[in-house]
Amino acid sequence: MTHLVTLIPGDGIGPEVAAATERVLAATGVDIQWDRVELSADRIRATGESLPADVLASLEKTKVGLKGPVTTPVGEGFQSVNVALRKRLDLYANVRPVKSMPGIHTRFDDVDLDMVIFRENTEDLYAGMEHEVVTDVITSIKVITRTASARIARAAFRFGSRHLRKKVTAVHKANIMKLADGLFLRCCREVAADYPHLVYNELIVDNASMQLVSRPEQFDILVMPNLYGDILSDLAAGLVGGLGVVPGANLGDNHAIFESVHGSAPDIAGKGLANPTALILSSVMMLEYLKEFEAAKALHAAIRETYKEGDSLTGDVKGTASTMQFADAVIRHIKRA
Ligand code: NAI
Repeated sequence: MTHLVTLIPGDGIGPEVAAATERVLAATGVDIQWDRVELSADRIRATGESLPADVLASLEKTKVGLKGPVTTPVGEGFQSVNVALRKRLDLYANVRPVKSMPGIHTRFDDVDLDMVIFRENTEDLYAGMEHEVVTDVITSIKVITRTASARIARAAFRFGSRHLRKKVTAVHKANIMKLADGLFLRCCREVAADYPHLVYNELIVDNASMQLVSRPEQFDILVMPNLYGDILSDLAAGLVGGLGVVPGANLGDNHAIFESVHGSAPDIAGKGLANPTALILSSVMMLEYLKEFEAAKALHAAIRETYKEGDSLTGDVKGTASTMQFADAVIRHIKRA
């Protein structure tokens, strides 16, 4: 069966890691027909259009996208196209598995980390409602709704139940934001009641941050509002080798976009240094979504074999290989299997 998928290479290191991922996916034998569209800071600046019509039209048609990062200017300029895309397609669940990789040495070599972060993806402080009340006084509005909180909680518990996980931890700041995070927590508790076989607990976000760096092995599934999820995903990536190795999926009821946790990494862009693992692992999640389970399994195994072997790794994980050399090593392992 042919799968029609939108490919958004993005900018910065995006085109490099996307090219590596495309090559690796071709080696799996899965028949993917790419609908390639451009979404980049340059294009947005040139056209003034943050969500170009052809990008939306492609995603409306294919329903599935594989996406590299897109740069967002800091403190000025256009609004994040990533946030806009997630809101526009109602991709409410940002799912980020954080798993130890063989051959990457970290402070936690003696434990096997395997957690999945469920980040609410459509509201919170990312609602984009900022306002200058008077000069030098800004309000930035945090929006928390029952609808969005309940559905991210349901996504986390459903996943936990299907994948025979043990525990779901809700992360919040309801001691201070009693109404907003209080509602988020109430929704998590209500959903938890439907899954008595999963242990449910709650942690305040500051304590959760400390626990993540001191005893990360206690975590299984974590569910949280948008901002905490954004920050703690990067923190958790640091536990398993960095942003180069953590994938993600933005899931809605009708569309899905698979993309890494990392951004456009302007410091290494265009040099062939970027680690494509995060996007390749995101494409494993995409293959599962497309029900290509055999290929997903084979690709995942090939990535882990490449890490075990250890001689084709990129600089961020202490290797010397280029983006494409890593991809070629993964392809060798696919073929060998
Ligand atoms: P970043 O994730 O791009 O980079 C942080 C650090 O990690 C850098 O030192 C970078 O070299 C390294 N890094 C990231 N990915 C890597 C990879 N695959 N291989 C090796 N090293 C890697 O975060 P930063 O610098 O804060 O953001 C840069 C731009 O990316 C910003 O404009 C930001 O808004 C955008 N961004 C876009 C995202 C998206 O499109 N989904 C997500 C996060 C940030």
